[in-house]
Amino acid sequence: MFRLTDFNFHNKTVFLRVDLNSPVENGRITSDARFKAILPTVKHLVEDGGKVVIGTHQSRPYKGGYITTEQHAEILSELLGQEVEYVEDIFGKLARDRIRSLKPGEVLMLENLRFSAEEVFYKPMEDCEKTFFVRKLAPLIDYVVNDAFATAHRSQPSLVGFARLKPMVMGHLMEREINALSRAYESDEKPRVYVLGGAKVDDSLRVAENVLRKEKADMILTGGLVGHVFTLAKGFNLGDANLEFMEKKGLLELVDWAERILDEFYPYVRTPVDFAIDKDGERVEVDLLSDEKWLFDRYPILDIGSRTIEKYREILMKAKIIVANGPMGVFEREEFAVGTVGIFRAISESEAFSVVGGGHSIASIYRYNITGISHVSTGGGAMLSFFTGEKLPVLEAFRVSYEMFKKK
Ligand code: 3PG
Repeated sequence: MFRLTDFNFHNKTVFLRVDLNSPVENGRITSDARFKAILPTVKHLVEDGGKVVIGTHQSRPYKGGYITTEQHAEILSELLGQEVEYVEDIFGKLARDRIRSLKPGEVLMLENLRFSAEEVFYKPMEDCEKTFFVRKLAPLIDYVVNDAFATAHRSQPSLVGFARLKPMVMGHLMEREINALSRAYESDEKPRVYVLGGAKVDDSLRVAENVLRKEKADMILTGGLVGHVFTLAKGFNLGDANLEFMEKKGLLELVDWAERILDEFYPYVRTPVDFAIDKDGERVEVDLLSDEKWLFDRYPILDIGSRTIEKYREILMKAKIIVANGPMGVFEREEFAVGTVGIFRAISESEAFSVVGGGHSIASIYRYNITGISHVSTGGGAMLSFFTGEKLPVLEAFRVSYEMFKKK
Protein backbone atom coordinates (compact mmCIF):
# COMPACT_ATOMS: atom_id res chain seq x y z
CA MET A 1 0.00 0.00 0.00
CA PHE A 2 1.24 3.52 -0.72
CA ARG A 3 2.77 5.51 2.15
CA LEU A 4 3.13 9.30 2.46
CA THR A 5 6.89 9.07 2.11
CA ASP A 6 6.55 7.42 -1.33
CA PHE A 7 5.56 10.75 -2.93
CA ASN A 8 6.54 14.39 -3.15
CA PHE A 9 3.40 16.48 -2.85
CA HIS A 10 4.95 19.83 -3.76
CA ASN A 11 2.50 21.88 -5.84
CA LYS A 12 0.18 18.84 -6.05
CA THR A 13 -3.48 19.02 -5.13
CA VAL A 14 -4.28 16.41 -2.50
CA PHE A 15 -7.73 15.35 -1.33
CA LEU A 16 -7.20 14.39 2.30
CA ARG A 17 -10.08 12.31 3.66
CA VAL A 18 -10.10 12.35 7.44
CA ASP A 19 -12.61 11.41 10.12
CA LEU A 20 -13.21 14.43 12.34
CA ASN A 21 -16.66 13.17 13.35
CA SER A 22 -16.72 14.29 16.99
CA PRO A 23 -19.06 14.47 19.97
CA VAL A 24 -21.19 17.62 19.99
CA GLU A 25 -23.00 19.18 22.96
CA ASN A 26 -25.26 22.20 22.53
CA GLY A 27 -23.92 22.71 19.03
CA ARG A 28 -20.25 22.75 20.12
CA ILE A 29 -17.60 20.08 19.50
CA THR A 30 -16.44 18.74 22.87
CA SER A 31 -13.36 16.67 21.96
CA ASP A 32 -10.39 17.47 19.74
CA ALA A 33 -8.96 13.92 19.96
CA ARG A 34 -9.55 13.10 16.30
CA PHE A 35 -8.12 16.48 15.24
CA LYS A 36 -4.88 15.88 17.11
CA ALA A 37 -4.64 12.40 15.64
CA ILE A 38 -4.54 13.63 12.02
CA LEU A 39 -2.18 16.58 12.63
CA PRO A 40 1.00 14.70 11.61
CA THR A 41 -0.51 13.97 8.19
CA VAL A 42 -1.75 17.52 7.62
CA LYS A 43 1.65 18.91 8.66
CA HIS A 44 3.45 16.46 6.39
CA LEU A 45 1.43 17.59 3.37
CA VAL A 46 1.72 21.30 4.23
CA GLU A 47 5.48 21.08 4.79
CA ASP A 48 5.83 19.24 1.50
CA GLY A 49 4.11 22.19 -0.22
CA GLY A 50 0.92 20.32 -1.13
CA LYS A 51 -2.39 22.07 -1.82
CA VAL A 52 -4.54 20.35 0.75
CA VAL A 53 -8.30 19.82 0.38
CA ILE A 54 -9.72 18.25 3.53
CA GLY A 55 -12.99 16.32 3.60
CA THR A 56 -14.73 14.84 6.64
CA HIS A 57 -18.21 13.75 7.60
CA GLN A 58 -19.87 14.80 10.85
CA SER A 59 -22.66 12.56 12.16
CA ARG A 60 -25.49 11.64 9.75
CA PRO A 61 -28.63 13.35 8.44
CA TYR A 62 -31.39 13.59 11.09
CA LYS A 63 -29.02 12.46 13.90
CA GLY A 64 -27.59 14.47 16.80
CA GLY A 65 -24.34 16.32 16.14
CA TYR A 66 -25.14 16.82 12.45
CA ILE A 67 -23.47 20.21 11.95
CA THR A 68 -21.42 22.05 9.33
CA THR A 69 -17.63 21.77 9.30
CA GLU A 70 -17.08 25.45 10.13
CA GLN A 71 -16.02 24.59 13.69
CA HIS A 72 -13.85 21.76 12.40
CA ALA A 73 -11.92 24.27 10.28
CA GLU A 74 -11.54 26.60 13.29
CA ILE A 75 -10.27 23.86 15.63
CA LEU A 76 -7.85 22.56 13.01
CA SER A 77 -6.56 26.09 12.26
CA GLU A 78 -5.82 26.54 15.94
CA LEU A 79 -3.97 23.23 16.30
CA LEU A 80 -2.09 23.63 13.03
CA GLY A 81 -1.14 27.25 13.64
CA GLN A 82 -2.25 28.35 10.18
CA GLU A 83 -5.54 29.16 8.51
CA VAL A 84 -7.74 26.28 7.38
CA GLU A 85 -10.33 27.93 5.17
CA TYR A 86 -13.89 26.60 5.46
CA VAL A 87 -15.73 26.50 2.17
CA GLU A 88 -19.50 26.11 2.34
CA ASP A 89 -19.62 23.65 -0.53
CA ILE A 90 -18.57 20.09 -1.36
CA PHE A 91 -18.08 19.69 -5.11
CA GLY A 92 -20.02 22.62 -6.58
CA LYS A 93 -18.51 25.57 -8.46
CA LEU A 94 -17.62 27.44 -5.26
CA ALA A 95 -15.54 24.52 -3.97
CA ARG A 96 -13.97 23.78 -7.35
CA ASP A 97 -12.92 27.41 -7.88
CA ARG A 98 -11.36 27.55 -4.43
CA ILE A 99 -9.51 24.28 -5.01
CA ARG A 100 -8.13 25.57 -8.33
CA SER A 101 -6.84 28.76 -6.71
CA LEU A 102 -5.04 27.02 -3.80
CA LYS A 103 -1.34 27.80 -3.39
CA PRO A 104 1.30 25.32 -2.14
CA GLY A 105 0.98 24.85 1.63
CA GLU A 106 -2.62 26.14 1.82
CA VAL A 107 -5.39 24.13 3.43
CA LEU A 108 -9.11 24.10 2.65
CA MET A 109 -11.94 22.38 4.54
CA LEU A 110 -14.92 21.22 2.48
CA GLU A 111 -18.45 21.21 3.89
CA ASN A 112 -19.71 18.14 5.84
CA LEU A 113 -19.49 15.44 3.15
CA ARG A 114 -22.73 13.83 4.32
CA PHE A 115 -24.68 16.92 3.26
CA SER A 116 -24.43 15.22 -0.14
CA ALA A 117 -26.94 12.37 -0.67
CA GLU A 118 -24.34 10.24 -2.45
CA GLU A 119 -22.23 10.06 0.69
CA VAL A 120 -24.83 8.41 2.90
CA PHE A 121 -25.20 5.18 0.93
CA TYR A 122 -22.89 2.19 1.14
CA LYS A 123 -22.03 1.20 -2.42
CA PRO A 124 -19.29 -0.85 -4.08
CA MET A 125 -16.20 1.00 -5.30
CA GLU A 126 -17.37 0.86 -8.94
CA ASP A 127 -20.60 2.72 -8.04
CA CYS A 128 -18.79 5.22 -5.81
CA GLU A 129 -16.53 6.01 -8.76
CA LYS A 130 -19.53 7.11 -10.82
CA THR A 131 -20.86 9.64 -8.29
CA PHE A 132 -20.88 13.37 -9.04
CA PHE A 133 -18.64 13.86 -6.01
CA VAL A 134 -15.86 11.78 -7.59
CA ARG A 135 -16.46 12.89 -11.19
CA LYS A 136 -16.40 16.60 -10.34
CA LEU A 137 -13.36 16.48 -8.04
CA ALA A 138 -11.16 13.87 -9.75
CA PRO A 139 -10.01 16.23 -12.57
CA LEU A 140 -8.77 18.74 -9.96
CA ILE A 141 -6.74 16.45 -7.74
CA ASP A 142 -3.45 14.60 -8.15
CA TYR A 143 -3.48 12.35 -5.08
CA VAL A 144 -5.86 11.07 -2.45
CA VAL A 145 -4.56 10.63 1.07
CA ASN A 146 -6.84 8.70 3.37
CA ASP A 147 -6.37 9.08 7.12
CA ALA A 148 -9.97 8.25 8.07
CA PHE A 149 -9.35 4.99 9.90
CA ALA A 150 -12.48 5.44 12.02
CA THR A 151 -14.57 5.21 8.84
CA ALA A 152 -12.55 2.47 7.15
CA HIS A 153 -15.55 0.10 7.45
CA ARG A 154 -17.73 2.30 5.22
CA SER A 155 -17.84 2.04 1.44
CA GLN A 156 -18.74 5.59 0.44
CA PRO A 157 -17.61 7.84 -2.47
CA SER A 158 -15.09 10.00 -0.59
CA LEU A 159 -13.57 6.92 1.03
CA VAL A 160 -13.17 4.45 -1.84
CA GLY A 161 -14.38 6.22 -5.01
CA PHE A 162 -11.00 7.56 -6.18
CA ALA A 163 -9.02 4.35 -5.71
CA ARG A 164 -8.83 3.38 -9.39
CA LEU A 165 -8.51 6.97 -10.62
CA LYS A 166 -5.75 8.40 -8.41
CA PRO A 167 -2.99 6.97 -6.26
CA MET A 168 -4.59 6.48 -2.85
CA VAL A 169 -2.08 6.89 -0.06
CA MET A 170 -2.26 5.95 3.64
CA GLY A 171 -1.92 8.87 6.05
CA HIS A 172 0.30 8.56 9.13
CA LEU A 173 -2.67 7.85 11.43
CA MET A 174 -4.03 5.18 9.09
CA GLU A 175 -0.65 3.47 9.04
CA ARG A 176 -0.28 3.61 12.82
CA GLU A 177 -3.78 2.19 13.30
CA ILE A 178 -3.28 -0.68 10.86
CA ASN A 179 0.11 -1.58 12.37
CA ALA A 180 -1.12 -1.54 15.99
CA LEU A 181 -4.34 -3.46 15.32
CA SER A 182 -2.55 -6.03 13.18
CA ARG A 183 0.08 -6.55 15.87
CA ALA A 184 -2.61 -7.24 18.50
CA TYR A 185 -4.60 -9.51 16.17
CA GLU A 186 -1.67 -11.55 14.88
CA SER A 187 0.24 -11.93 18.15
CA ASP A 188 0.55 -15.33 19.77
CA GLU A 189 1.95 -14.01 23.03
CA LYS A 190 -0.52 -15.24 25.66
CA PRO A 191 -2.83 -14.49 27.41
CA ARG A 192 -4.64 -12.30 24.89
CA VAL A 193 -7.61 -10.59 26.53
CA TYR A 194 -10.45 -8.84 24.68
CA VAL A 195 -12.67 -6.39 26.57
CA LEU A 196 -15.96 -5.85 24.76
CA GLY A 197 -18.31 -3.14 26.00
CA GLY A 198 -20.53 -0.42 24.65
CA ALA A 199 -23.71 -0.60 22.66
CA LYS A 200 -22.55 -2.15 19.37
CA VAL A 201 -23.63 -5.60 20.51
CA ASP A 202 -23.96 -7.36 17.16
CA ASP A 203 -20.50 -6.21 16.03
CA SER A 204 -19.07 -7.29 19.39
CA LEU A 205 -20.65 -10.74 19.08
CA ARG A 206 -19.07 -11.05 15.64
CA VAL A 207 -15.69 -10.11 17.14
CA ALA A 208 -16.10 -12.60 20.01
CA GLU A 209 -17.03 -15.39 17.61
CA ASN A 210 -14.16 -14.63 15.25
CA VAL A 211 -11.34 -14.25 17.77
CA LEU A 212 -12.40 -17.29 19.80
CA ARG A 213 -12.93 -19.53 16.80
CA LYS A 214 -9.64 -18.49 15.17
CA GLU A 215 -7.87 -18.84 18.54
CA LYS A 216 -6.77 -15.21 18.55
CA ALA A 217 -8.17 -14.58 22.08
CA ASP A 218 -7.77 -16.47 25.35
CA MET A 219 -10.34 -14.55 27.38
CA ILE A 220 -13.21 -12.13 26.74
CA LEU A 221 -14.38 -9.70 29.42
CA THR A 222 -17.75 -8.12 28.79
CA GLY A 223 -19.44 -4.94 29.97
CA GLY A 224 -21.84 -2.27 28.76
CA LEU A 225 -24.78 -3.64 26.77
CA VAL A 226 -22.57 -6.44 25.44
CA GLY A 227 -22.23 -7.58 29.06
CA HIS A 228 -26.02 -7.40 29.53
CA VAL A 229 -26.64 -9.69 26.55
CA PHE A 230 -24.08 -12.28 27.69
CA THR A 231 -25.39 -12.10 31.28
CA LEU A 232 -28.90 -12.93 30.04
CA ALA A 233 -27.46 -15.68 27.84
CA LYS A 234 -25.94 -17.23 30.99
CA GLY A 235 -29.44 -17.43 32.44
CA PHE A 236 -29.37 -14.51 34.92
CA ASN A 237 -32.27 -12.09 35.21
CA LEU A 238 -31.56 -8.37 34.83
CA GLY A 239 -35.04 -7.26 35.93
CA ASP A 240 -38.06 -5.73 34.22
CA ALA A 241 -36.70 -2.18 33.85
CA ASN A 242 -33.58 -3.40 32.07
CA LEU A 243 -35.31 -6.05 29.96
CA GLU A 244 -37.77 -3.46 28.72
CA PHE A 245 -34.93 -1.15 27.71
CA MET A 246 -33.12 -3.97 25.93
CA GLU A 247 -36.26 -5.03 24.13
CA LYS A 248 -36.74 -1.48 22.82
CA LYS A 249 -33.17 -1.51 21.51
CA GLY A 250 -33.71 -4.88 19.79
CA LEU A 251 -31.06 -6.48 22.02
CA LEU A 252 -33.11 -9.40 23.31
CA GLU A 253 -33.02 -10.88 19.82
CA LEU A 254 -29.25 -11.24 20.21
CA VAL A 255 -29.39 -13.38 23.36
CA ASP A 256 -29.71 -16.68 21.42
CA TRP A 257 -26.62 -15.84 19.41
CA ALA A 258 -24.70 -15.04 22.61
CA GLU A 259 -25.90 -18.36 24.01
CA ARG A 260 -24.52 -20.21 20.99
CA ILE A 261 -21.14 -18.54 21.55
CA LEU A 262 -21.28 -19.61 25.21
CA ASP A 263 -22.18 -23.19 24.24
CA GLU A 264 -18.88 -23.38 22.41
CA PHE A 265 -16.65 -21.15 24.55
CA TYR A 266 -18.31 -20.78 28.01
CA PRO A 267 -15.16 -20.61 30.21
CA TYR A 268 -13.57 -17.95 28.03
CA VAL A 269 -16.36 -15.37 28.21
CA ARG A 270 -16.62 -13.49 31.53
CA THR A 271 -19.66 -11.44 32.53
CA PRO A 272 -20.16 -8.90 35.33
CA VAL A 273 -20.83 -10.23 38.84
CA ASP A 274 -22.28 -6.93 40.03
CA PHE A 275 -23.77 -3.80 38.49
CA ALA A 276 -24.34 -0.16 39.40
CA ILE A 277 -27.91 1.08 39.11
CA ASP A 278 -29.26 4.62 38.96
CA LYS A 279 -31.43 4.74 42.09
CA ASP A 280 -33.14 8.11 41.86
CA GLY A 281 -29.97 9.83 40.67
CA GLU A 282 -27.60 7.93 42.95
CA ARG A 283 -25.06 5.17 42.10
CA VAL A 284 -25.98 2.01 44.00
CA GLU A 285 -24.10 -1.25 43.45
CA VAL A 286 -25.99 -4.52 43.44
CA ASP A 287 -24.53 -8.02 43.34
CA LEU A 288 -26.07 -10.26 40.72
CA LEU A 289 -26.68 -13.02 43.30
CA SER A 290 -27.67 -10.86 46.28
CA ASP A 291 -31.12 -10.36 47.83
CA GLU A 292 -31.10 -6.80 46.47
CA LYS A 293 -31.29 -8.00 42.89
CA TRP A 294 -35.02 -7.15 42.80
CA LEU A 295 -33.79 -3.54 42.40
CA PHE A 296 -33.01 -4.42 38.76
CA ASP A 297 -36.78 -4.61 38.21
CA ARG A 298 -37.13 -0.96 39.03
CA TYR A 299 -33.86 0.81 38.27
CA PRO A 300 -31.65 0.95 35.17
CA ILE A 301 -28.20 -0.60 35.21
CA LEU A 302 -25.71 2.06 34.07
CA ASP A 303 -22.33 0.56 34.92
CA ILE A 304 -20.47 -2.52 36.10
CA GLY A 305 -19.83 -2.76 39.85
CA SER A 306 -16.61 -2.64 41.93
CA ARG A 307 -16.31 -6.41 42.36
CA THR A 308 -16.39 -6.85 38.58
CA ILE A 309 -13.80 -4.11 38.11
CA GLU A 310 -11.52 -5.88 40.61
CA LYS A 311 -11.96 -9.30 38.97
CA TYR A 312 -11.36 -7.90 35.48
CA ARG A 313 -8.36 -5.94 36.73
CA GLU A 314 -6.69 -9.13 38.00
CA ILE A 315 -7.06 -10.75 34.59
CA LEU A 316 -5.85 -7.63 32.75
CA MET A 317 -2.73 -7.33 34.90
CA LYS A 318 -1.60 -10.78 33.73
CA ALA A 319 -2.37 -10.20 30.04
CA LYS A 320 0.25 -9.92 27.30
CA ILE A 321 -2.11 -8.52 24.68
CA ILE A 322 -5.24 -6.46 25.37
CA VAL A 323 -7.83 -5.30 22.86
CA ALA A 324 -10.63 -3.19 24.35
CA ASN A 325 -13.56 -1.53 22.62
CA GLY A 326 -16.46 0.43 24.06
CA PRO A 327 -17.31 1.71 27.53
CA MET A 328 -18.40 -0.40 30.52
CA GLY A 329 -21.27 1.95 31.29
CA VAL A 330 -22.77 5.38 30.77
CA PHE A 331 -19.38 7.11 31.06
CA GLU A 332 -20.90 10.50 30.18
CA ARG A 333 -22.23 10.65 33.78
CA GLU A 334 -19.33 10.88 36.21
CA GLU A 335 -20.81 8.49 38.80
CA PHE A 336 -21.23 5.83 36.12
CA ALA A 337 -17.80 6.34 34.50
CA VAL A 338 -16.24 4.33 37.37
CA GLY A 339 -16.28 1.04 35.44
CA THR A 340 -14.98 2.47 32.17
CA VAL A 341 -12.24 4.49 33.85
CA GLY A 342 -11.33 1.60 36.17
CA ILE A 343 -10.91 -0.79 33.26
CA PHE A 344 -9.03 1.70 31.05
CA ARG A 345 -6.76 2.50 34.00
CA ALA A 346 -6.05 -1.20 34.66
CA ILE A 347 -5.18 -1.61 30.97
CA SER A 348 -2.84 1.37 31.12
CA GLU A 349 -1.10 -0.08 34.19
CA SER A 350 -0.69 -3.59 32.77
CA GLU A 351 2.46 -4.42 30.86
CA ALA A 352 0.51 -5.82 27.93
CA PHE A 353 0.61 -4.40 24.43
CA SER A 354 -2.78 -2.72 24.49
CA VAL A 355 -5.14 -1.30 21.91
CA VAL A 356 -8.18 0.61 23.13
CA GLY A 357 -10.91 2.17 21.00
CA GLY A 358 -14.59 2.89 20.97
CA GLY A 359 -15.36 6.04 19.03
CA HIS A 360 -16.40 8.85 21.29
CA SER A 361 -15.81 6.90 24.52
CA ILE A 362 -12.04 7.32 24.18
CA ALA A 363 -12.65 10.94 25.17
CA SER A 364 -12.82 9.62 28.76
CA ILE A 365 -9.21 8.43 28.44
CA TYR A 366 -8.15 12.04 27.95
CA ARG A 367 -10.65 13.48 30.43
CA TYR A 368 -9.33 11.24 33.22
CA ASN A 369 -5.67 11.61 32.21
CA ILE A 370 -5.11 7.93 31.56
CA THR A 371 -1.71 7.40 30.00
CA GLY A 372 0.22 4.23 29.25
CA ILE A 373 -2.11 2.54 26.76
CA SER A 374 0.06 1.34 23.83
CA HIS A 375 -2.36 2.50 21.13
CA VAL A 376 -5.56 4.50 21.53
CA SER A 377 -7.50 3.83 18.35
CA THR A 378 -9.68 6.55 16.85
CA GLY A 379 -11.99 3.80 15.61
CA GLY A 380 -15.14 2.47 17.21
CA GLY A 381 -17.10 0.53 14.60
CA ALA A 382 -14.05 0.38 12.32
CA MET A 383 -11.93 -1.17 15.05
CA LEU A 384 -14.61 -3.78 15.76
CA SER A 385 -14.95 -4.55 12.05
CA PHE A 386 -11.21 -5.11 11.88
CA PHE A 387 -11.36 -7.75 14.64
CA THR A 388 -14.33 -9.52 13.04
CA GLY A 389 -11.80 -10.62 10.44
CA GLU A 390 -13.93 -9.11 7.65
CA LYS A 391 -12.38 -7.02 4.88
CA LEU A 392 -12.59 -3.27 5.47
CA PRO A 393 -13.58 -1.40 2.26
CA VAL A 394 -11.00 1.37 2.73
CA LEU A 395 -8.16 -1.14 3.23
CA GLU A 396 -9.32 -2.97 0.11
CA ALA A 397 -9.33 0.35 -1.78
CA PHE A 398 -5.69 0.99 -0.78
CA ARG A 399 -4.76 -2.42 -2.24
CA VAL A 400 -6.65 -1.82 -5.49
CA SER A 401 -5.05 1.61 -5.91
CA TYR A 402 -1.59 0.27 -5.21
CA GLU A 403 -1.94 -2.49 -7.82
CA MET A 404 -3.23 0.06 -10.32
CA PHE A 405 -0.53 2.72 -9.88
CA LYS A 406 2.56 0.94 -8.56
CA LYS A 407 4.21 0.74 -11.96
CA LYS A 408 3.34 4.26 -13.09
C1 3PG B 1 -17.49 6.76 13.90
O1 3PG B 1 -17.42 7.68 14.71
O2 3PG B 1 -17.70 5.58 14.25
C2 3PG B 1 -17.19 7.05 12.48
O3 3PG B 1 -17.03 8.42 12.26
C3 3PG B 1 -18.19 6.44 11.53
O4 3PG B 1 -19.42 7.07 11.66
P1 3PG B 1 -20.72 6.35 11.10
O5 3PG B 1 -20.96 5.16 11.99
O6 3PG B 1 -21.80 7.38 11.17
O7 3PG B 1 -20.45 5.91 9.69
